[in-house]
Amino acid sequence: MLLPVDGDFLEKEELKKLAGEKALEYIEDNMIIGIGTGSTVEYTIRKLGELVRDGLKIQGIPTSVHTQRLAKEENIPLTTLEEHPSIDVTIDGADEVDSNLNLIKGGGGALTREKIVAFNSKKLIIVVDDSKVVKCLGIDFPLPVEVVKFGWTATKKTLENFGCDVKLREIMPGEPFITDNGNYVLDCEFDRIDDPVQLEFDINNIPGVVENGLFIGLADKVIVGGKQGILTLDKEAVV
Ligand code: A5P
Repeated sequence: MLLPVDGDFLEKEELKKLAGEKALEYIEDNMIIGIGTGSTVEYTIRKLGELVRDGLKIQGIPTSVHTQRLAKEENIPLTTLEEHPSIDVTIDGADEVDSNLNLIKGGGGALTREKIVAFNSKKLIIVVDDSKVVKCLGIDFPLPVEVVKFGWTATKKTLENFGCDVKLREIMPGEPFITDNGNYVLDCEFDRIDDPVQLEFDINNIPGVVENGLFIGLADKVIVGGKQGILTLDKEAVV
């Protein structure tokens, strides 16, 4: 479905806003909502805050400390997976999306909580601008892998056996990025990922790996903000 929007050219932020807000059409009263992480979902969160102020009754489960803070700023009622183990709809961003609606996520380092929330959701809606849609995963974006600190150099070596360049994510030289779970992130740069299904399984089998950023078969819809308007990709339409 292609909805025309005004203007020939929309800046990237406008495309992200379009996609981020469009996803809220799938939200109804009394739902438990998984709230993703990233700059695209931030538009979803801001708009969700408006809807809540206008009377929408939902409870949200944030996928990161950052998202929790944003949601609190917007006075969005929050809950936990312990209280609500089944989520109705999760809205989240992605770093790459392929034609099978498989994803790379974790650019913001929230991949583990994001995958737990996605896995426990009846519906996962991904919001992206059109720069994230790729022919093959791994082409534009390194695959983030969350690893425990203990033995991380050994884990890095094992990951290199998959034929990728592996870098410890740092917030500045010499200062590693630490996830909300207290772990490191190793960014694995592949030329391309031809078999994401097998790779997701193989990486998660390495001792020391907490989770990797391949989201396989989890997304139900991908809402793409593009210069021509909004394109919604559906899992049912994938052959
Ligand atoms: C967070 O860890 C990520 O999975 C984000 O959802 C992803 O990086 C997309 O972020 P942006 O919307 O900021 O590009």
